Amino acid sequence: MRRRACGFVLAVAVLCRGFGAASPEQSLREAARRSGMLIGAAVRPEQLSEAAYASTLAREFNMVEPEDALKWEVVHPERESFDFSPGDQVVDFASRHDMKVRGHTLVWHRQNPKWLTEGNYTSGELAEILEKHIKAVVGHYRGKIFAWDVVNEAFDELRPGELRHTIWRDQPGIGAVGGGVAAGYEPRTSSNPARPELAARSSQQPYFYIERCFRWAHEADPQALLFYNDAEAEAVNPKSDAIYAMVRDFRERGVPIDGVGFQMHIAKLHADIASISANIQRFTALGVQVHITELDVALPVDAEHNSRPEDLQSQADIYAQIAAACLSHRLSHSGCTAIQTWGFTDKYSWIGSHSKQTEGAALLFDRTYRTKPAYLRLRNALVLD
Ligand code: XIL
Repeated sequence: MRRRACGFVLAVAVLCRGFGAASPEQSLREAARRSGMLIGAAVRPEQLSEAAYASTLAREFNMVEPEDALKWEVVHPERESFDFSPGDQVVDFASRHDMKVRGHTLVWHRQNPKWLTEGNYTSGELAEILEKHIKAVVGHYRGKIFAWDVVNEAFDELRPGELRHTIWRDQPGIGAVGGGVAAGYEPRTSSNPARPELAARSSQQPYFYIERCFRWAHEADPQALLFYNDAEAEAVNPKSDAIYAMVRDFRERGVPIDGVGFQMHIAKLHADIASISANIQRFTALGVQVHITELDVALPVDAEHNSRPEDLQSQADIYAQIAAACLSHRLSHSGCTAIQTWGFTDKYSWIGSHSKQTEGAALLFDRTYRTKPAYLRLRNALVLD
């Protein structure tokens, strides 16, 4: 009702703004400020020199995340050398424009350099390499990156509820597969003094290797918020059930985890909003934050990258509904606290190459930086009544 009234006269529009609907000139970041939300985008440093890219990013968002610049193949190209310059460009941009930075990602099975994947290391060597990597990267950005995706996509969608086989887990693994403890590694006594019996549980878990990564990251920057991030776990399903069990166990035993990231790459214009909302609710009830980390809504496109007008409207509905689901679980310092899209302009989005150019148009701005219907709907959703 209020929104329809907003169209009439300026005075009413001003009133409407006061009551909660976004006014036309408001940016996403202004809208987000009123509800205390973080609104972010994944970014590529090589695009920051493009004026329209940089000005749109700075105007609309209060958070950024390097899309690829902190992955192993970029940041750790040789065993003995790190390249922080692409990541630093993003961090510098963020500091000039008063934006927060999320870090992505310290432990993943993709985008790893050959020296790592083909190095035939023993478990002990791999554990040492991983610990050094986590401590070097988190240490370099200590005080600058406020939240890290420590581990990304560790659960396997093809074997519901089970961990993926990766170099980190068991190929050869860092020596911490369920039941097996790395040589020379002393499992900690429980960090929860009220529940000493929980200590024994630690090294028995199949996700014990993940626990070690969180502890290393915490040692490198005790202030940083540490997240577990995954795909296809946004609704209640066997994968999110398994993640939930792990996070609950971590919280009970005092493993330093602060949040869970749901990627939210929406395919086929299908999102089960009720289930997404219930899932956000159960995770926030564990006392961890939820961030929506990689939101995009892919549409079918023709060879000229055009999508159908009706699909743009359905896409807008989904953006608005997901934002509303997040905001409905917003508490003062916890709950669902951030919404981040995976890129922001359709000009640069991973969906094109990922779908062999059959899909695209997944983001809030078109290829010429004009806002799409999804932009307006998301902006309105960000303004709490
Ligand atoms: C994608 C990037 O967007 C691409 O530029 C890169 O070529 C491949 O990776 N889940 C994740 C992200 O966690 O890191 C992925 O990013 C998309 C899927």
